[in-house]
Amino acid sequence: MVEKTSTSLLYLDGVSVSFDGFKALNSLSFVVEPGELRAIIGPNGAGKTTMMDIITGKTRPDSGQVFFEGDTDLTKLDEAEIAQLGIGRKFQKPTVFESHTIWDNLELALNRSRTVFGTLFYRLSGEDRDRIEEILDIVRLKDRRSDLAANLSHGQKQWLEIGMLLAQEPKLLLVDEPVAGMTDAETAETAILLREIAKTRSVVVVEHDMGFIRDLGVKVTCLAEGSVLAEGSIDFVSADPKVIENYLGR
Ligand SMILES: Nc1ncnc2c1ncn2[C@@H]1O[C@H](COP(=O)(O)OP(=O)(O)OP(=O)(O)O)[C@@H](O)[C@H]1O
Ligand SMILES: [Mg+2]
Repeated sequence: MVEKTSTSLLYLDGVSVSFDGFKALNSLSFVVEPGELRAIIGPNGAGKTTMMDIITGKTRPDSGQVFFEGDTDLTKLDEAEIAQLGIGRKFQKPTVFESHTIWDNLELALNRSRTVFGTLFYRLSGEDRDRIEEILDIVRLKDRRSDLAANLSHGQKQWLEIGMLLAQEPKLLLVDEPVAGMTDAETAETAILLREIAKTRSVVVVEHDMGFIRDLGVKVTCLAEGSVLAEGSIDFVSADPKVIENYLGR
């Protein structure tokens, strides 16, 4: 059991879900505070992605509680409603519009949050332009704005997609294995970038890259077999015998 506080942004308690009798999540309890950047580690099949599926409404828990901003029960809402509440999710594979410029990708993402009517009669306001400039800056793509997204490196496409999520101003951003396939330089830059993003919202990032996790310098949660194995600083968690046995020592 974790203590539910009304100030928590995200609150999971006792969440379980089975697939064909296999417990992917086993009484998982997990809390994220406003403005927190949290790192999640754990072996393959630990339930990290499934946890994100539960939060975003893609998968329904068999039991347990999932609350956002204190009293909004996420288990009662569908994926679109949860996205609308301000929970953005970045999947492993980048999904940007390759044949559009970086700028247009961000403009499209900004538009996505508007109504159909709003989009029909829509002119890019000065405020929108400022926001796109700001995002270009955050995701390190200022000099690439007029290039086609197809010409970006894999890592830059990941950044662009993070930028597209930021255009929708999520209160909570979930990022699943962002640095897989990135160069070492891109990986190091991504840690800085996510820390900057977490100054204005909460971010939960799943990664296997321990150097990256260390660079983040935040509280780490290690999952195994669908529940929390250890939680705390990277030094605390990586010294835990259970974590070494189940994950790091493998
Ligand atoms: N929709 C689903 N249907 C059936 N089984 C699923 C489904 N989603 C997840 N699983 C199973 O649940 C378990 C947990 O998977 P999950 O993808 O959450 O692990 P993970 O911690 O993200 O692992 P990885 O580090 O490899 O990404 C796995 O055994 C997986 O096969
Ligand atoms: Mg996964």
